[in-house]
Amino acid sequence: MRKAIDSPFSPGSDTVPHVWAGRTPQLSDWRDHLRPRRMAGLHERGRTILGEAGLGKSSLVRRLTSEASAAGDWVTPQLRIPTGADPLKRVAGALLTVADQAGLAAAREKKITELLRSVERVAAAGVSSSMREQPGPEPYSALTNLLIEIGRAALRQGRSIIVIHVDEVQNITDDAALSQLLTALGDALTHEEPLTLPGGRQIDAALPLAVYLTGLPEFADMAGARKGATFARRFQTTMLAPIEDDDLIAALQPFVTEGWPVAGDDGHDERVFMEPDAQHAIVELACGEPFLFQLAGERAWYAGTSAIITAEDVMSGWDDARYEAEGHVLRILDRLPSRERQFVETMAELDPTDRTLTTIARHMGYEKGTAVGPTGQRLDRQRGIVTRGKPYTFRHRAVEAYLTTDWPDMS
Ligand SMILES: Nc1ncnc2c1ncn2[C@@H]1O[C@H](COP(=O)(O)OP(=O)(O)OP(=O)(O)O)[C@@H](O)[C@H]1O
Ligand SMILES: [Mg+2]
Repeated sequence: MRKAIDSPFSPGSDTVPHVWAGRTPQLSDWRDHLRPRRMAGLHERGRTILGEAGLGKSSLVRRLTSEASAAGDWVTPQLRIPTGADPLKRVAGALLTVADQAGLAAAREKKITELLRSVERVAAAGVSSSMREQPGPEPYSALTNLLIEIGRAALRQGRSIIVIHVDEVQNITDDAALSQLLTALGDALTHEEPLTLPGGRQIDAALPLAVYLTGLPEFADMAGARKGATFARRFQTTMLAPIEDDDLIAALQPFVTEGWPVAGDDGHDERVFMEPDAQHAIVELACGEPFLFQLAGERAWYAGTSAIITAEDVMSGWDDARYEAEGHVLRILDRLPSRERQFVETMAELDPTDRTLTTIARHMGYEKGTAVGPTGQRLDRQRGIVTRGKPYTFRHRAVEAYLTTDWPDMS
């Protein structure tokens, strides 16, 4: 009945998960705000979505772009930037594909064929100096100009919006490349196109263009320190938080009420159900982490073959997942600079009511809270791991569970 190949859970895969939870504010920002405004020619900043590993940044924007693509929008695939790679190459390559979709390749205007040729050079050579020795525009302005042409084509065809998704932006370590990328996208976002409305009235309209950048929290520093105010004016940054338990419960509710449809042996649809106890156990193990939620769900599915996922299935499945769950949290802790790590570990050792800045500082060997104030601030504002308050609390619940309880060991 329950077969491994039928599992709807997808830990770690780079697809839109079938069992989707929460993220309503971000989805609604796209559907009800960003898309309609840009379609109406109004300015709206690009979006930068940051968060610790496994919080669902890539999945969120993948979901938006697949919705957009289904609605007929022109969408780049998720442009994942490997460490140290040249982002302009990736973006240029993707824009050439969109330009094709927009019918620009068939254009006979000399200006457009020349533009396409210069973007082809960027796709081949990127931001590299050999490229800059060539005559013609700087790589970033070639990209901006192509984006503008694609935007004009979208306006002429009257319904699509162009969505660009650059993922793993923290890997753009080359200052010049980052600067060119942000300038190219930012210039296209702020471009104004004269437009004649029905009835003959003239306005200056923004292009139907949306940009999503996703990556680890470090990117805020990189872009902030180097690009400062310009970046902030052109991109709006959101730090993703863990998913609320209520949203995780709701995501599993279809298993409890009507069952999850799977193909039976004789071609009939069959359904896999979940006991409410199993539903709550999965949510408890997940600590708000979407990756752990998928992991616990998958292991519970694999733990038996009957038509009902039980709480025992969840616990015995989790037994095999413990090391992976621990690895997930350790990856986050291991990336922290030593003082930040010491801060969260000290917090964890203290009784929840004692977690004031002064007490944390004292236990870290300082006299005054101000000595570790900036560390606490980074862990809150930049990483979303703690919440400053009186007392400080953990926002990253899996980190808290790992440091303060036996989790992930539940036996
Ligand atoms: N809203 C969601 N509901 C349910 N599962 C989700 C949701 N978002 C992400 N997931 C699952 O969580 C896991 C991690 O998601 P994703 O890869 O998007 O995270 P990420 O933040 O991009 O991580 P990384 O920093 O490692 O790239 C995936 O298995 C994905 O299926
Ligand atoms: Mg990702």
